[in-house]
Amino acid sequence: MKLETLTVREGNYNLKDYDELSASFDWKEAENHFSWSETGKINIAYEAIDRHAESGLKQKVALYYRDADRNEKYTFEEMKEYTNKAANVLKTAGGVEKGDRVFIFMPRSPELYFAVLGAIKAGAIVGPLFEAFMEGAVRDRLADSSAKVLVTTPELIDRVPVNELPALEKVFIVGGSVPSEEKYVDFNAKMQEADTAFEIEWMNLEDGMMLHYTSGSTGKPKGVLHVHRAMVQQYMTAKWVLDLQGNDVYWCTADPGWVTGTSYGIFGPWLTGTTNVIVGGRFKPEAWYQTIEDYKVTVWYSAPTAFRMLMGAGDEVVKKFDLSSLRHIISVGEPLNPEVIRWGAKVFDRRIHDTWWMTETGAMVICNYPSMDIRPGSMGKPVPGVKAAIVDDQGNELPPNRMGNLAIKKGWPSMMVAIWNNPEKYESYFMPGGWYVSGDSAYMDEDGYFWFQGRVDDVIMTAGERVGPFEVESKLIEHPAVTEAGVIGKPDPVRGEIIKAFVALQEGYEPTEELKEDIRQFVKTGLAAHAAPREIEFRDKLPKTRSGKIMRRVLKAWELDLPTGDLSTMED
Ligand code: WT7
Repeated sequence: MKLETLTVREGNYNLKDYDELSASFDWKEAENHFSWSETGKINIAYEAIDRHAESGLKQKVALYYRDADRNEKYTFEEMKEYTNKAANVLKTAGGVEKGDRVFIFMPRSPELYFAVLGAIKAGAIVGPLFEAFMEGAVRDRLADSSAKVLVTTPELIDRVPVNELPALEKVFIVGGSVPSEEKYVDFNAKMQEADTAFEIEWMNLEDGMMLHYTSGSTGKPKGVLHVHRAMVQQYMTAKWVLDLQGNDVYWCTADPGWVTGTSYGIFGPWLTGTTNVIVGGRFKPEAWYQTIEDYKVTVWYSAPTAFRMLMGAGDEVVKKFDLSSLRHIISVGEPLNPEVIRWGAKVFDRRIHDTWWMTETGAMVICNYPSMDIRPGSMGKPVPGVKAAIVDDQGNELPPNRMGNLAIKKGWPSMMVAIWNNPEKYESYFMPGGWYVSGDSAYMDEDGYFWFQGRVDDVIMTAGERVGPFEVESKLIEHPAVTEAGVIGKPDPVRGEIIKAFVALQEGYEPTEELKEDIRQFVKTGLAAHAAPREIEFRDKLPKTRSGKIMRRVLKAWELDLPTGDLSTMED
C-alpha cells in the first residue's frame, strides 16, 4: 500500500533535522537551558516565571486570560508577584510545607494559575482536580493523597466532604462568601495583604511537584506523581514539537485538571518564555475561532474531538474569522483521523500535527515535528533522546509492521516516579528489559513511524478524556435499581468513543426511558458529567467470569456484532 505523505513546509523551525538530532541528542545537553545548571537552585516554578521576570522578558505578556466576565493580562513580572503572593498565602495562612499535597479544585481563572505555581514555589505537590468532579471523585482523590490544603470556589465547595477528610487542614475559598469556621480562609483577601516577595523553596530534581489522578481499567483512580525534573522534557518538547519561539502567542485548550493542561498549559509555554492564552468556559466553535483571531494565536494545541466538532460546525464558520496568524497546529489525546488532517489542511492551510503521550509519561513521547513529513494516521516518531519500541508480552522488541505493546525505555526525564500509595501498581507498568508498557497497542512501520491500534485494556477515551470503566460501573451499582453493570467504549465519529453501559435491574424495576435518564443523572451528579453513560441498555443478565468479573469484551462484541471469542471462563 502506498502511504499518503504530507511533505514539510518551509520554515525556520527549532528542530531543523529530526534524523540528525535523534542520532546525537543526550538529555544532559538540555540541562544547560536551566538556571540551576549554574546556581544549583531548583524549582520548576522559578524556571517558568521568575527567571523571565528577572530578564529582558519581564514586560512581556505571560498570560492573557478571558472568560464571560473577565479579560485580563499579566506580564512575567506580574506573574512573579502574584505567584509569590499565592506562595506566601499558602505558607502562612495554610501552613504549607515542602512535600505537602495542595489540591486545586476550581474552574480556569488567573487565580488557579497563581495557586498552582505558588504552591510549587512553597515546595508543595499540587493535585489539580477537574471542575466537573462530583463528591465521590473528589473524596477519593483527597483521601488517597492525604491532602492538607485545598483551594476551591464557593460553587464547588459543596462537593467537598470536608468533615470526612481528617488530613485536610485548610480550605481556601476564591471569590464569594467564606464559611465562618476556622478551617476556611478567604483566598483573595489574603492575596491582597500578601507580600510580593517570597523565598522560594529549593528542591531536588527528584522531588514531587504534581500529582495527577488518572483512570485504569480496574480499581480506583491512581495518583501519578511527577517531579521537578519533568521540566527538562517539557521544555525541550515545547521547543521541538510545539516549536515555540520568541514572538509566538500560544493557546492550549486543555484544562489543568488533565495533564495536557499542566505540562503544556503551564510548563511548556512558560518554561520557554512564551505568551500563553487561557480561555475559560465551554466549547463553542465561534468562540474558539474568535479567540484565535483576537489574540492572533500562532501556535494552537488541542484534541481530535475538538477538531472533529469544529469540522462538524462547517467550513462556512471558519471563513467568518481571520485565522491567518496560525502557523502551527498540534493535537493530542486520541487517534487523529487522516480525514481531520485533510480538513485542517483545507480550511486552515496548516497540517495538524499529532502527538502521543500519557499522564504517566509527563511529556510528549511520540510526535510529528514541523520539519518532518507527516503520514496521516501515524503518531510520528519518538522524541529525540527517548527510545520507544513495540514489544511482545515478554518484553522482546518486535520487528517493523508487527502489532504489539507500545513501550518506552525507562529513564526519560519526565517519567512518573510513583503511583501514590501503591508501589505494586507502579511496578506493574514495567517489563523485563527496562520497558515501561503503555497499555496501548501499536506497530512501527519500516521508516520508524508509529501507528496507534487501540488500548490493550478496557480504558475508555471519550472526547479526549480517560475514563476507567470500573469507576463508572461502581457508581452505577450504587443506584437502587441496578444490580449489575458493565461499561464499554462505543466507537463514535465525533467523540472517539462514548460511554455505553449495560445494566441489569433489580426485581421490581421497569426498564423505562425515565429510568435510563435517572441512572444517567445519578452518575453525572455522583461521579462526573463526562463519565455519565450516553447510552444505557437494559439486559436481564450480564456476561461474567466464574470469579464474577464482568466480561467487557463480550459486551463489546455484542455492541459491535463481533464474534464473542473464547467463553470458557464465563459462568453458565
Ligand atoms: C491515553 C493516555 C497525554 C494527554 C492526553 C491523554 C490515548 C493519547 C494519543 C494519540 C492515539 C492517544 C492513548 C493513551 N492517546 N494520545 N496521539 N493517538 N491515542 O492522557 O488521559 O493519560 O490518556 O490516551 O490511549 O494511552 P491520558
